[in-house]
Amino acid sequence: MRTESACWQTWPEAAETYSRLIEDLTRDSHYLRSHGLKPTLVRMMGDCSNARILDVGCGDGWLLDEVRPREGYGCDIVKQSKIKPEWKFEIQDVRSLSYPDEFFDEVVASLVLIWFEELDVAIRQMYRVTKSGGKMVIAMVHPYFYRMGEPDSQGNFVISRDLSKPFKMEDLKIGGVAGPLTYFYRPLPDYFNACTGTGFRIGQVIDWFVDMEDYLRETKSGMESNILRTGKVPLYCFIECIKE
Ligand SMILES: C[S@@+](CC[C@H](N)C(=O)[O-])C[C@H]1O[C@@H](n2cnc3c(N)ncnc32)[C@H](O)[C@@H]1O
Repeated sequence: MRTESACWQTWPEAAETYSRLIEDLTRDSHYLRSHGLKPTLVRMMGDCSNARILDVGCGDGWLLDEVRPREGYGCDIVKQSKIKPEWKFEIQDVRSLSYPDEFFDEVVASLVLIWFEELDVAIRQMYRVTKSGGKMVIAMVHPYFYRMGEPDSQGNFVISRDLSKPFKMEDLKIGGVAGPLTYFYRPLPDYFNACTGTGFRIGQVIDWFVDMEDYLRETKSGMESNILRTGKVPLYCFIECIKE
């Protein structure tokens, strides 16, 4: 799996570029993360001060820095220089985790499950390492609107791809620079079914929309985007799953 899989081939090259990109205050990806991804994910994870947390595909470890768990574990297929030594980092693929069964109070995957085909395998692994009574939180750029079409001049979204079945895009460049990466599109029910199929119960599901008034105000003050935005369709999707 390691050598053949698209994510192992592409992420080691792209990871540092991606990490720099999300810190770049002149790009709108920073705005979208700080207004949408971060606060929603942190709220969904709840109080982690007494918890053992695993962040799979943790990147530079920003989420652990944010929620400050009692015991923070991060794994990724790439180790980045910014991960703090207080977090227990290991190179691990989410599809073949080596942590013991029922080890974590909470497992989180932020913007990770879209980079490979074997969604069911990854969800089964996350289920296995989550304690009974614990939870898993997934965040992703909303599958129906991420590179699936374009906003028109009225801010409506014109979908140009066939959303009915899974497909992959092999030439994806995040922010026009990190990549090319392979992105695996799958319809949203595939995520729900993969979660419930392992035994998780779906808790909260949140769609996050860009507040265009605020976004346009910020854009005027120097933030750039080479992607047209609209507030009429959700940009991020968050799924909370409970292991009973
Ligand atoms: C878009 S970045 C997200 C990083 C971080 N979670 C965040 O929210 O900013 C995707 C991360 O997933 C990692 N990744 C990709 N495939 C993976 C896999 N099979 N197992 C573990 N991590 C993976 C990449 O190396 C990269 O760090």
